[in-house]
Amino acid sequence: MAKSCLVCTGPVVEFLDLGRQPLSDAFPAPGADPAREHFFRLALGRCADCAMVQLTEVPPAARMFHRGYPYRSSGSTVMREHFARVAERLLADRVDPFVVEIGSNDGAFLRTAVERGVRHLGIDPSGDAARVAAGFGVRVRVAFFAEPLARSVLAEHGPADVVFAANTVSHGPDLGSILRGVAALLAPDGVFVFEDPYLGAVLANTAFDQVIDEHVLFFGARSVLGPLRRAGLELVDVERLPVHGGQIRFWAAHAGRVPASPAVAELLAEEEALGVHDPARLRAFAARTADRRRALVALLTRLRAEGARVVGYGATAKSATVTNYCGLGPDLVSAVIDTTPAKQGRLTPGTHIPVRPPEAFGPGRADYALLFAWNHAEEIMAKERAFTEAGGRWIRYVPEVRVV
Ligand code: TMP
Ligand code: ZN
Repeated sequence: MAKSCLVCTGPVVEFLDLGRQPLSDAFPAPGADPAREHFFRLALGRCADCAMVQLTEVPPAARMFHRGYPYRSSGSTVMREHFARVAERLLADRVDPFVVEIGSNDGAFLRTAVERGVRHLGIDPSGDAARVAAGFGVRVRVAFFAEPLARSVLAEHGPADVVFAANTVSHGPDLGSILRGVAALLAPDGVFVFEDPYLGAVLANTAFDQVIDEHVLFFGARSVLGPLRRAGLELVDVERLPVHGGQIRFWAAHAGRVPASPAVAELLAEEEALGVHDPARLRAFAARTADRRRALVALLTRLRAEGARVVGYGATAKSATVTNYCGLGPDLVSAVIDTTPAKQGRLTPGTHIPVRPPEAFGPGRADYALLFAWNHAEEIMAKERAFTEAGGRWIRYVPEVRVV
């Protein structure tokens, strides 16, 4: 029987099966009881009624986003600058605004509000991340954002002039509640800006590793129109973003308050022309995904036979999909390098490859680095130039498997 759509309850037709997977940000400690790892079936489907691309099985949110959630938005210089820029833009020309961020993590975005003395509130279920944010003076309410919480924020602080969310709205299985909450909280002339992975970019790059437990919905301009409208909101602008391998920034306002930019109609037409939501295009993406697995496993198996030392770079959430889908364990990838203290000394989810700090990497320590954090390629390859100059090679698998 078809699953029912998380957004409109229509029938969801599955097109991509990535198999049994662990939670992508749950890094077990060495020696931890393996029975405590939570597994689920990672698969993607498309709603036949509203075209929303979505996970067909969603792990419980409280298991993914909890006090110890290890991801830090500020873990990349590029992303810190990205958030500072959008914050500057949103705060310019507003007199004494109140800014709310849904999923404020370590305060990468709201730090700018603090620096400018702007009234703000972050909302995030991770207490550890909130504590980091608080260290920068960012006020955070540790909670999941949903309609009732939005009403309580409104009662306590008044309406928000800006609501911002990065990589959060697409994580929520209950999009309707989030959008109704935003509509309730947003001042009449307020703006709601949210950015998430873009379905069109995932398809164009065959970025199958964007499919993880936390990425519940894959947005296109077409598929967000209906949910926004049902909440009384309207899509007024769109921007394609280069970060994280291709994202989209949606600008929404209360219906009828702001004239829509021509960019909205242009992107809708482009999606139509490219078939971004077409079942045949989605099935072709699934076929290319299987090709990437074959090619990557063949390459790593050959390198092992040649005695080459291969490490992973970036213990990204995305890498859980790659390692578990392709069956990559410590025999093929001996370690994964990552700067996040909460991940170091632990094991990768499901595949149990040790996570090591950058000090464990460098010239002479590995022959190949499998770039799991391909979305941070420039930043990482610049930092690790010594490895490359000493003859180290990088392995990419998005958009294709190749050694660079
Ligand atoms: P993300 O792709 O979800 O942003 O995750 C990036 C991961 O890669 C995160 O765990 C931090 C890590 N990382 C490094 O180890 N070194 C780096 O230079 C960068 C930019 C990220
Ligand atoms: Zn639907």
